[in-house]
Amino acid sequence: MGEIIAVASGKGGVGKTSVTANVGDALAALGKKVLLVDMDMGLRNLDLVLGLESEVVYDAVDMLEGRCRSAVLPSAYKNGPDFLPASQVHGYDRISEEKVEKLYSDLCQQYDYILVDCPAGIEKGFCIAASGADSAVIITSADAVSLRDAERTIGILEGLGVGDARVVINRFRADFAERGIHMKIDSCIDILSAPLLGVVPEDDAVAESAAAGSPVCRYSPDSQAASAYRNIAARICGETVPLIQLEKNTMGLKQRIKRLFGR
Ligand SMILES: Nc1ncnc2c1ncn2[C@@H]1O[C@H](COP(=O)(O)OP(=O)(O)OP(=O)(O)O)[C@@H](O)[C@H]1O
Ligand SMILES: [Mg+2]
Repeated sequence: MGEIIAVASGKGGVGKTSVTANVGDALAALGKKVLLVDMDMGLRNLDLVLGLESEVVYDAVDMLEGRCRSAVLPSAYKNGPDFLPASQVHGYDRISEEKVEKLYSDLCQQYDYILVDCPAGIEKGFCIAASGADSAVIITSADAVSLRDAERTIGILEGLGVGDARVVINRFRADFAERGIHMKIDSCIDILSAPLLGVVPEDDAVAESAAAGSPVCRYSPDSQAASAYRNIAARICGETVPLIQLEKNTMGLKQRIKRLFGR
């Protein structure tokens, strides 16, 4: 039985789809069997990031309503994650929590990890997408608005019975943290009620690889973002990996490991 991980955020545009695609690809590179599910109904875009847009015939709603036996597509890349596309035409009116939970539980027989790219916000669509998940990865940037929305999302997930939430701080910029434009990592950790899973720096490689329809770890394997995604995947698998050094201060290895587990 695989683990179903909801990738959520509260605030839109903070990097859920990028993290789903790139951490999913990094998990697959570790030899795990991975499925990425796009549950952003009506606003499908994970297919573009994965370079699979021309392959989509059926989608998750077709599968839920029995128009096809499976809408799952194999990865465009060797040893990559499989992909279940969202519907581009239907919203959440035709699907229920019960149907989605049944779909996830059928699928998780065949996978080690299922990453669900959730819609932004905390409305019905998000609740349907996250229902039945075993754990959650909340994406936030290091600004007060995004962090507050992340906290609210963690609370809603608890209400849905999805415990074990962990946070990824995305698009982190050391120069912004220094100048007080956004917060330092330690200040984010102090605010958040869930532990930190990783920090992904602001990195042009993310947008460049998305435009090329290729995961960052393949398109730009030496980039800082690729290292961050690989580290997050390793932590999901239970490894203890220190945060990469993004801020100026010269914190020791021991302290950086400690920051991942303690507040
Ligand atoms: N670490 C990063 N560095 C630079 N750009 C990034 C990074 N993460 C994401 N982006 C860019 O930010 C934009 C939004 O990212 P993404 O689509 O993953 O967000 P999202 O949370 O899925 O958005 P939505 O709420 O609309 O679904 C994209 O153009 C993406 O390439
Ligand atoms: Mg998205």
